[in-house]
Amino acid sequence: MADASPALAAGGLSKGDAAILRFLAAAELIETDLWQQYNELAGIQDDEVPGGSGSAAYAEAVAVLDGDMDQYIHDNTDDEISHAAFIDAYLKAHGEPTVNLDRFRTLPSSKATGAQQIGRLTNLMQLTVDTSFWTRYRSDSQNPDFGDAPVQAVPGLAAGQFPAIPRSDDDLAQPDHLQAIANTAGFHFVFIEQGGTSLYAQLAQRVTHPEVLRILLSIGPTEAMHFQTWHDKAGNAPPLTDPTNGLVFPDLNAAGGELTQTNLIMPEPTKFLNRKFPIVSIIRPTQTKDAAMAAVKALTADGLFIGQSQEFATVITQLAKAADAARHG
Ligand SMILES: [Fe+2]
Ligand SMILES: [Fe+2]
Repeated sequence: MADASPALAAGGLSKGDAAILRFLAAAELIETDLWQQYNELAGIQDDEVPGGSGSAAYAEAVAVLDGDMDQYIHDNTDDEISHAAFIDAYLKAHGEPTVNLDRFRTLPSSKATGAQQIGRLTNLMQLTVDTSFWTRYRSDSQNPDFGDAPVQAVPGLAAGQFPAIPRSDDDLAQPDHLQAIANTAGFHFVFIEQGGTSLYAQLAQRVTHPEVLRILLSIGPTEAMHFQTWHDKAGNAPPLTDPTNGLVFPDLNAAGGELTQTNLIMPEPTKFLNRKFPIVSIIRPTQTKDAAMAAVKALTADGLFIGQSQEFATVITQLAKAADAARHG
């Protein structure tokens, strides 16, 4: 790697670039941990993404969204593993401290048949999924960078705590309950990957070295590819009510018009930078100020860290604040 980037190796990373890469390393470890849990139960377990042995009933419910969901889950997981490993190796190659979250792998695994029984960083069993990304990307007049808060596509998911994986084999018995869990996963996939899409674009604006910019510009759009795929699949989640907890997945094509119509998966042009400009098709949000902390807050509000220690929150917050202090130049 030193040969591939002699200028950077000689000068080392700027403090800000290292801080941004460390925060992204942490984010990728978190992504890897949650995707691994999905893969163990509903993906393809193989040499590339080892661990788990699958839950046939859960995988079948997830496959209602698309027959290739197991492959996509596998490939998304493989991508996250590679993101985390690459950023870690890059930091190491430049003599920078890396990020190790292993001591926080303390949260319980699903007890469902197919999951490994190991400690986890993230909790997929009490999620509160913000589904405003759905309407945000369909609105031609709203943009979170202007302070807008587009409405939820699935208001119920944003208001309670729901499992996105079976907590145990008991969750497999009632078909509509199981499908609600699979639907929750389907919307959670989109939430996670649209967040990554924005995060890379936000942090790229504050890196200094062109090679670090190249890293962010090369990884970030893969998050957008994931987002786009999951965005399409989530629209296939069948409308239903979970009989165990009342969670409603509405018929998105029946209500709401263009703000919820499922096949509107291309980003609708919207306002950007200043209203004096014409609307434009963009990812959103991209404002860079405090972007890392915003990501931590979003993941925390998602319920991913329920059960984690105060020390975990402190470590993640410190990494985010250091990244948000980085300035271009
Ligand atoms: Fe990633
Ligand atoms: Fe991702």
